[in-house]
Amino acid sequence: MAGDKLNSTEYDKISPDSEEDLMPKKAGHHKFHMPKSCTNSAEDLNCDIKNQVYSERLEQLKNEIEKLTIPDLQINSEDLFDQHCDPANPVQIKFNDISAAAYRIRGGVEITPCTRSHMSSITGMEIFFKKDFLQYTGSFKERGARYALLSLSKEQKACGVIAASAGNHAQALCYHGKMLKIPVVVVMPKIAPIMKISNCRSYGAIVIVEGTSMLEAKNFALKLSKMLNIMYINGYDHPNILAGQGTMALEILEQVPDVDAIVIPTGGAGLLAGVAVAAKALKPDIMIIAAESDRCAGFYNSMANGEPTLTFSDPTLADGLAVSLVGVNAFASAKNLVDKCVCVQEEYIAIAILRLLELEKAVVEGAGACGFAAVLQGLLPELKNKKVVIPLCGGNIDTTILGRVLERALAADGRLIKLWVTISDRPGSLAEFTKLVSAFGASIKDIAHERAWLKSDVFSVQVQAVLEVENSEKAKEIEEFLIKKYEKVIMGPYGINKQ
Ligand SMILES: Cc1ncc(COP(=O)(O)O)c(C=O)c1O
Repeated sequence: MAGDKLNSTEYDKISPDSEEDLMPKKAGHHKFHMPKSCTNSAEDLNCDIKNQVYSERLEQLKNEIEKLTIPDLQINSEDLFDQHCDPANPVQIKFNDISAAAYRIRGGVEITPCTRSHMSSITGMEIFFKKDFLQYTGSFKERGARYALLSLSKEQKACGVIAASAGNHAQALCYHGKMLKIPVVVVMPKIAPIMKISNCRSYGAIVIVEGTSMLEAKNFALKLSKMLNIMYINGYDHPNILAGQGTMALEILEQVPDVDAIVIPTGGAGLLAGVAVAAKALKPDIMIIAAESDRCAGFYNSMANGEPTLTFSDPTLADGLAVSLVGVNAFASAKNLVDKCVCVQEEYIAIAILRLLELEKAVVEGAGACGFAAVLQGLLPELKNKKVVIPLCGGNIDTTILGRVLERALAADGRLIKLWVTISDRPGSLAEFTKLVSAFGASIKDIAHERAWLKSDVFSVQVQAVLEVENSEKAKEIEEFLIKKYEKVIMGPYGINKQ
């Protein structure tokens, strides 16, 4: 069965009612040959047969992909058209779409807690964190992915789907594809975190690592979707994805009915659109705030220009938000409902990750921490004394990256400082230096001597030290003390205000 091909006339006999939902048919495109045991409905099959059909189709897709040659994969402009995200005909999702999604995905994704935070006292607002990083694959993306998969026609379910994603959408789609026995192909760019790539593989999906950027991965996936005749599911713009993401707002309004504002991390704007449509329908006076990284301010620029606007994106800790062009449906759905849009600096995203880990005991990735980072950066003064819900919408951060982020956050927070002090080379001088700094409660993390490349007298030595201190005030006290005591003191930048 695996290599068989049907011509389109034969395929239509099998699925006469599914024309509209099928991928555009092009001359010469091969179609998935439904196995004999699957000519009725996939839902009617018992579990074993369903599993077998699913595995066979995955094998068939693998074989078809392996057979593709470089000329086959040449990308033309019409290959990049996605019928579900047509800039000429953007779709505005409605509240009914979101309530339908909530009904269909119930039981398949977690209803995550939305609890009052320890951070309320330090921020001057009553903060509630919606903990969607507790979803099985670690992000809110499961909401849209499951709904999009459940909404496919039976033929589309049997054929499988394809997506491009740097991580969370891919993981969500792969996992729910496996649960629902719908074959999934994901194209992930080379910059995707290793953990996310291996998770997708562990869910049994076909994972292709291709492209140096998200845009290249997406273009490749769109081309493949046409070659394989399977549906492309845009992770931030397919209307069913937006509807699924909106289910988060229904939960929020049930959990914190008198919420004043929701601050939403924004990349392609799918979550923003879904949450804004649902929340404003139920509570028109609620404030909806978009928070994005200032290294990829695509939504901000699009709002300024009144249309989705291609925006250059620099590498950011919030990798999930690095989308160069917001979704056309997402923008159309959200643009009139968003009250404010803020762009967050990298240092505050790092500090937000640190605070959430230390005070909230929550491991949150950069994208998921962006809303809280906006509060820490002081970008939302109008929310003082208000009830604010902030989705912590993803927790997928590589352990090695987490280590590096925490070091940067400690430095930005003024709790890790680096200094160079020229001291005497006589016995006891280094001991005296360490004693002096330890009197401030500083812990020495690293220390080194420099003798050769100095211009001072030969009886001097330069000490380079990295110290961990209680806070930036303590760092300042140490700096002032050392300047009085030693002739030459150089402090590395510490604390955000010094950078
Ligand atoms: C953790 C996390 N938060 C927020 C977003 C932003 O979602 P959207 O692209 O729908 O704006 C993403 C997107 O991947 C994400 O992974």
